[in-house]
Amino acid sequence: MKKIVLTGAAGRLGSYLREPLTKLCEELVSTDVVDVGKLYPNEAFVKADLTKLDEMTALMKGADMVVHFGAIGDEAPFEQILGPNIIGAYNVWEAAFQNGVKRVVYASSIHAVGMYPKTEFIGVDVPHRPDTFYGLAKCFAEDLGRMYWEKRQIEAVCLRILSCAKVTNARALGSWLSYEDLVHLVTRAIDTPIVGFSIVYGVSNNDRAPVDNTAAQFLAYRPKDNAEQFAAEILAKAPPANPQDLGQMCHGGPFASVKLGNSGTATMGIVNDKKQT
Ligand SMILES: NC(=O)c1ccc[n+]([C@@H]2O[C@H](COP(=O)([O-])OP(=O)(O)OC[C@H]3O[C@@H](n4cnc5c(N)ncnc54)[C@H](O)[C@@H]3O)[C@@H](O)[C@H]2O)c1
Repeated sequence: MKKIVLTGAAGRLGSYLREPLTKLCEELVSTDVVDVGKLYPNEAFVKADLTKLDEMTALMKGADMVVHFGAIGDEAPFEQILGPNIIGAYNVWEAAFQNGVKRVVYASSIHAVGMYPKTEFIGVDVPHRPDTFYGLAKCFAEDLGRMYWEKRQIEAVCLRILSCAKVTNARALGSWLSYEDLVHLVTRAIDTPIVGFSIVYGVSNNDRAPVDNTAAQFLAYRPKDNAEQFAAEILAKAPPANPQDLGQMCHGGPFASVKLGNSGTATMGIVNDKKQT
């Protein structure tokens, strides 16, 4: 593969993807509104704003695939989500179309279906049920991806990531996606020869994983890590179980219980362990 474009390259997940992606192509173009710092061999950095179609179009010249991870990564007022997450998604797919890019690998989220109760073992084909404006934007981008596949033949793999961060709470015992499994998942989304339009949950091989990837088997995503190793320590300090609390009951966790527009990550204790170049 000649060229891959990675959006959101300066973000936490982007920091773990950049080096492995340089091994999958002749040139990785990393992009963000924030600088990524020191570059890896055969990596270039272009500062660009997702909300600007002309900047996205210029970036994707000659690209084979785009790995789209740029976004506001939390719930926020609709007016803040609209630009980067909704218009940004349109700009990425439209720029891909204008440049003949073959496939978009998209960082979607469990929050597209976050209001389902965790007692339902949901598959990749359940109807959208967003928990926030953030989740609603992920629904929009998934539908956009399906439409660009069906009308314009651009393939897409939507990775509905659950929680890709150090395990610090009881929910993460089910929802954890380790950084190694993230890299494996993105690699499969890139190197599987035919994907059409597909959706897969981004979750490790946790005993308590609450989602079903059976219909995405063809991607050969076989995660290795299991959050059960942290269970005893995490459960010893977990608050009492409360089935009336949407944050405990629903797939979206705290995003299911916050008021629209308020941060869902604020109470999640996310550790910023971004990989340094
Ligand atoms: N971390 C998780 O557990 C998780 C779970 C589900 C989905 N996701 C998705 O994965 C992606 C990456 O998540 P992350 O945790 O690395 O988030 P992050 O906030 O660390 O990274 C997102 C990056 O997007 C960039 N960005 C924001 N607005 C932009 C704009 N207008 N133009 C260009 N770049 C812009 C930011 O500068 C940032 O570097 C996001 O799309 C997020 O929604 C993450």
